[in-house]
Amino acid sequence: MTGGLRIAIDGPAAAGKSTIAKLVAKKLGYTYIDTGAMYRAITYKVLQNFIDPRNEEEIAKLVGNTVIELQPGGNAQKVLLDGIEVTEAIRSHEVTSQVSAIAALTSVRQLLMKKQQNLAADSSVVMDGRDIGTSVLPDAELKIFMTASVEERAQRRLLEEQLRGITNDYETLKREITERDKADSEREISPLKKAEDAIIIDTTGKTIEEVTDRIVEYAEKRLTK
Ligand code: DC
Repeated sequence: MTGGLRIAIDGPAAAGKSTIAKLVAKKLGYTYIDTGAMYRAITYKVLQNFIDPRNEEEIAKLVGNTVIELQPGGNAQKVLLDGIEVTEAIRSHEVTSQVSAIAALTSVRQLLMKKQQNLAADSSVVMDGRDIGTSVLPDAELKIFMTASVEERAQRRLLEEQLRGITNDYETLKREITERDKADSEREISPLKKAEDAIIIDTTGKTIEEVTDRIVEYAEKRLTK
């Protein structure tokens, strides 16, 4: 640690993790690392190369030859895959529907986890994902487990997609979110799970500002301890 904290934010799909993690990072002057974007970038590459999502051997080879860069910028973090920007492309419906299967592969997790640990090695970070507090940064100084009712998560995702010009319906989104949570929670390695020492924040009915301020307060308390 270089005077700052490592903050791990985990939780189910569409609980508001990335929006809030980004704001917390900005307020504290920390680096934000979106680990979901890394799994999405690999999934995008698998699909682009027409590799069967169950073909672990081919996928492991592909991951070994992949460079993923997360570049800070404005409100959005830029994601570069082998030097090409894929920030928007990795949010497609196709990627979202396949990402849990790719994220369940041992070789993919091992490689990305190493990369995530390296990114957090010498800086103050806010990292969001599913297994940050349990596996990637088990010694993180502050761990948050962020939840929200599935109804609210589907509603938020619907609005988010509408803003991006994507047409979807509430019931489909609710079903997809539930399925992704189930797959992410039931996989064998580093499943979505609350770390024992994580603080639970239920964001249902809370504003982005409220949740951000609460996490920043926790961080400030940890820093003055
Ligand atoms: O946070 P997100 O929705 O962009 O994440 C996409 C998928 O990536 C999620 O369904 C599970 C996987 N993921 C993971 O397995 N471990 C992480 N640390 C982050 C994401």
